[in-house]
Amino acid sequence: MATLLDGAALAGEIKAQVAAEIKKAGINPGLAVVIVGENPASRIYVDYKKKDCAECGIRSEEFALSAEAGEDALLACIAALNRRADIHGILVQQPLPAGYDERKVLQAISPDKDVDAFHPVNVGRIVSGDYAFLPCTPAGVLALLDHYGINPKGRHCVVVGRSDIVGKPQAMLLLHRDATVTICHSKTLDLGHFTRQADILVAAVGKENLITADMVKPGAVVIDVAMNKNAAGKLCGDVDFPAVEPIASYITPVPGGVGPMTRAILMRNTLEATQNAASVL
Ligand code: GUN
Repeated sequence: MATLLDGAALAGEIKAQVAAEIKKAGINPGLAVVIVGENPASRIYVDYKKKDCAECGIRSEEFALSAEAGEDALLACIAALNRRADIHGILVQQPLPAGYDERKVLQAISPDKDVDAFHPVNVGRIVSGDYAFLPCTPAGVLALLDHYGINPKGRHCVVVGRSDIVGKPQAMLLLHRDATVTICHSKTLDLGHFTRQADILVAAVGKENLITADMVKPGAVVIDVAMNKNAAGKLCGDVDFPAVEPIASYITPVPGGVGPMTRAILMRNTLEATQNAASVL
């Protein structure tokens, strides 16, 4: 039986540390959460992020735009937030509705307030290893590995998924930790050939039961980043958990694994953005 990587518990510890640091420093961090349109999953994520802020002593302000508001209105909203000294972090929940140029929107956020680390300047810093902000989900995965004493150095890490939000930055962070990294994606031929070689397998695709037991090396560490809903409406990841759990050494549950870690790193990034702003005053 695998050991469960308890992201909910570790996220609680990280948030408590962030809350204690904010209190001790007597600072007043502010996070702007921008949501466009009516995506139900985005609404849930945004509500969770606001709740995390409240727990940590971070002011959150929500800016909800209708899908029809248009890109110019969104860019104007971001420009105003960039100028506000009492807002230290800005996040625009993804995905944006059709008709919005996601790249253009992300580039409009001041890199100093880009607590998601999606701006090209911050992406470049992730590639070079000179981080300003750590990307939330990949950094959350590393924090989880560290907490359980799992060192990726020299290990074969296989990342399934090449999104800008998870797959690509996850591969980079693991590379910076001296892992040997393989990135697989929807066009990979014979996915199992690669996943079976993984000492650490990170699944970040968004497809229920993509990773079955025959695709996992016995004793592997299995990290499931995905958040899907199955036919019964229950949350599940990409990994066939009941079949894979008996052969893995460590595995993340869904929910309660990577998700809470992503949000905990967002809180830490917002604290850092506030400290950075104070240091340049
Ligand atoms: N959509 C899915 N994950 C994320 C995330 O980490 N940040 C933002 N802004 N949108 C997302």
